[in-house]
Amino acid sequence: MSDRKILVTSALPYANGPIHLGHLVEYIQTDIWVRFQKMRGHECYYVCADDTHGTPIMLRADREGISPEQLIAEVELQHRADFADFGVAFDHYHSTHSPENKILSSEIYRRLRDGGHISSRSITQAYDPVKNMFLPDRFIKGDCPKCGATDQYGDNCEACGATYAPLDLKNAVSALSGEKPIEKDSEHYFFNLGHFAEMLGAWTTAGHLQAEVSNKMAEWLENGLQDWDISRDAPYFGFEIPDAPGKYFYVWLDAPIGYMASFKALCDRQNLDFDAYWQKDSQTELYHFIGKDIIYFHALFWPAMLYGAGLRTPSAIYAHGFLTVNGEKMSKSRGTFIKARTYLEHLHPEYLRYYFAAKLSAGVDDIDLSFDDFTLRVNADLVGKVVNIASRCSGFINKRFEGLLAAELAEPELFQNFIAANTSIAELYENREFGKAMREIMALADKANQYIDEKKPWLIAKEEGRDAELSAVSSMGLNLFRLLVVYLQPVLPGLAANAAAFLNIEPKQSWPSQAQPLLNHKINSFTPLMTRIEADKIAAIIEASKEDLSVTAPVSKTSQADSTNQVDIEPIAASIELDDFSKVDLRIARIIEAQAVEGAEKLLQLTVDLGNETRTIFAGIKTAYSPAQLEGKLTIVVANLKPRKMRFGVSEGMVLAAGPGGKDLWVLSPDQGAQPGMRVK
Ligand code: MSP
Ligand code: ZN
Repeated sequence: MSDRKILVTSALPYANGPIHLGHLVEYIQTDIWVRFQKMRGHECYYVCADDTHGTPIMLRADREGISPEQLIAEVELQHRADFADFGVAFDHYHSTHSPENKILSSEIYRRLRDGGHISSRSITQAYDPVKNMFLPDRFIKGDCPKCGATDQYGDNCEACGATYAPLDLKNAVSALSGEKPIEKDSEHYFFNLGHFAEMLGAWTTAGHLQAEVSNKMAEWLENGLQDWDISRDAPYFGFEIPDAPGKYFYVWLDAPIGYMASFKALCDRQNLDFDAYWQKDSQTELYHFIGKDIIYFHALFWPAMLYGAGLRTPSAIYAHGFLTVNGEKMSKSRGTFIKARTYLEHLHPEYLRYYFAAKLSAGVDDIDLSFDDFTLRVNADLVGKVVNIASRCSGFINKRFEGLLAAELAEPELFQNFIAANTSIAELYENREFGKAMREIMALADKANQYIDEKKPWLIAKEEGRDAELSAVSSMGLNLFRLLVVYLQPVLPGLAANAAAFLNIEPKQSWPSQAQPLLNHKINSFTPLMTRIEADKIAAIIEASKEDLSVTAPVSKTSQADSTNQVDIEPIAASIELDDFSKVDLRIARIIEAQAVEGAEKLLQLTVDLGNETRTIFAGIKTAYSPAQLEGKLTIVVANLKPRKMRFGVSEGMVLAAGPGGKDLWVLSPDQGAQPGMRVK
């Protein structure tokens, strides 16, 4: 029995958007590592939570006419379902908007304040006089003060790369109200990161970070550590600062404390010793898996906060790179911004778990999901190599030997080779070199297949008097298969469980350093464990990911996959001339028929009357409307949009609607009296 006690976290996903394949790189990576630790017999806990605070969540709830509490409760359910269905098995999933987090955040703040690490001073910021709130940088836009480029956001110019204070933007307007922001002073609270320069200098070079991350930290440390603004003014969805009414903790202050809060809830549930994991001299291990975009928070602020509060610091921060799809940033218009749910509607989650494992290393390089490579690899490795062994051998055992494996191993040495490989495979898993681990396991699978190819049980089976040989070879094959599947269990827990049921062994196997062969052992009948990926499934995922756009085309640049904090408010687009607008031919239309489209979850096929003609339009509004709600309704369509060929037919226009999507979509309709065919001007 081991005495390692390990606490592991993944970054807390924001509660204002769905889980997508980019997120899953991290949760799958962490889950694999945790499952591996558990197989090794260590006491290991994996906790996470939704990151629920901040302005974007407050504004989105506002827009949807619900409370932020309602919004985060709904999103949490979706997140939990997505994770569960991808086999990401948290020991506890919590929320940063929880009593545990409020208590812990306040306590850590108090300790930092009492330690003299919090100061306050007044600062001037842009304020929206209509919305009555201070504007976060990305909610202000205007012309670049350096090059004059229009329509720039926040504090940097996409045209010339200049950085500036948001208040320096020319002709600045609030992206919320369109109003000119005013300057307003307010008292802010700061965490004095500079007090921890020495501690961080040592900590960031003491093996807690990957080499490339540690180097980056050295640069940042050299540039000096600024005080960190940890307060926000009301209105803000978050925790009020204990000794500062009307001031709230900035979301990034209470977010990492959310790791502790989630673990606290787990400890309360399972009677574990919370302090043993967090006190200064803790003998336990603490690991945070994160994306490379949030290193600053985890490698500087977080250890300094913990240290300043008299708590332990992390054993290590493991950063990973970003997911690209087919070599490019995930893109809504290309259909490569793929939600976890959309993927699940078409493909088995373990295909993706295996593919990510095959691509992951201990470094921070980006990883690419290339659909051709994905299909090839899964089909060749999992179906062609691993599952194939079982399907080649099980039939003989079941049909000819009533499911009973041979009493002796045909090739004890080969079996021992497979067992001996456990040391290096374990080391690769431990060091997060999953890609290398997968290659080593597949090399073993090749050996197993070679063995079967050489022995040719299908020929033996045809000859009289060679039963013992047939049993020996097939049993040997299945014993090797069993070891391969156990090695793959951290990556493919579902396949491993199904294989265990077929092999009639314990569903959750421990690490096979001591494994004994299955001899004289009765197996169950074989059911196919995994089938090939079909190309049309991938086409369907991409098409479904585009469907979201078939109603309203624009994609806000702040809501793209790569932004760390997703904002759903569409920024106001660049000014246009009246002529530009006139190019868009908007017409009143009556929906005369609406029907579901077979094979499309989000589409309705609408037949609309445009006065002189009827058209077919595919609209991605099925999640928000039933056909009956639409038939007879007047709406507005873009009548001169080029016909768009979709998987289900040609769409001859676009219905106007607003809203973030899903159930939250509202089709526009004109006032009483408008007639089909009338132009909207
Ligand atoms: N809420 C913060 C984290 C707070 S942790 C105390 C946050 N949330 S996030 O939803 O934007 O991202 C969650 C995690 O997913 C982050 O580690 C982020 O790096 C990761 N990823 C988000 N998009 C990603 C890709 N496209 N590719 C790989 N990882 C990505 O950041
Ligand atoms: Zn510029």
